[in-house]
Amino acid sequence: MIKNIKEIVIASHNEGKVKEIKSLLKPLGFKIYSAKKFEINEPVENGKTFRENSLIKSKNASLKSGIPSIADDSGLCILSLNNDPGIYSARWAGKSKNFDLAMKKIEHKMTRNQLLNKSSRKAFFCCALSIYFPNNDFRVFEGKKYGHIQFPALGKNGFGYDPIFVPNGYRKTFGEMNFDYKERISHRAIAFRKMKKFLQTYKF
Ligand code: IMP
Repeated sequence: MIKNIKEIVIASHNEGKVKEIKSLLKPLGFKIYSAKKFEINEPVENGKTFRENSLIKSKNASLKSGIPSIADDSGLCILSLNNDPGIYSARWAGKSKNFDLAMKKIEHKMTRNQLLNKSSRKAFFCCALSIYFPNNDFRVFEGKKYGHIQFPALGKNGFGYDPIFVPNGYRKTFGEMNFDYKERISHRAIAFRKMKKFLQTYKF
């Protein structure tokens, strides 16, 4: 049972993330709002880490709405590219949020630098899930999912870089997995399990 918290706003304008976070939160029984409902703006994400950017978003949404807010900052880190696109994962897709283009950029960069062997394709998805309360209390929980990059992009499920990421122990990309399955094993699910444990004992 979650005590005292009845409402939560999800500080994201990314439909893919909102869908996954809503679904993960569902069993906890909160009333869930999206940032759009409170007309919350997208703050400038000028942090240097996933953690900092996540807190910028959850703090902004919580203080503007007056209720606790959950934010996710996440991205794909490719080891041979010095963890790029990393915290700039969304920016690599440009203003039009074109992830086909972002995946092509990665493919070109890795091809040009001869980084297509299996060890150069090692990558992980990172998720920093934060919760910020109107009394300025906050927590951040991290989840990482390791795997490798694969070209060509495969699968139409999920969002963002899902079609080029194969998690360790699987042959399918996240883009080929069904929603429920990805949601159980993803970086977001790992971070979420930690947050859930915390919420079950938090007294607000
Ligand atoms: P931000 O956290 O909103 O700055 O954006 C992170 C970006 O990383 C997203 O727009 C996605 O492109 C990418 N990303 C984060 N999580 C996932 C995921 O689970 N699958 C695919 N791409 C993701």
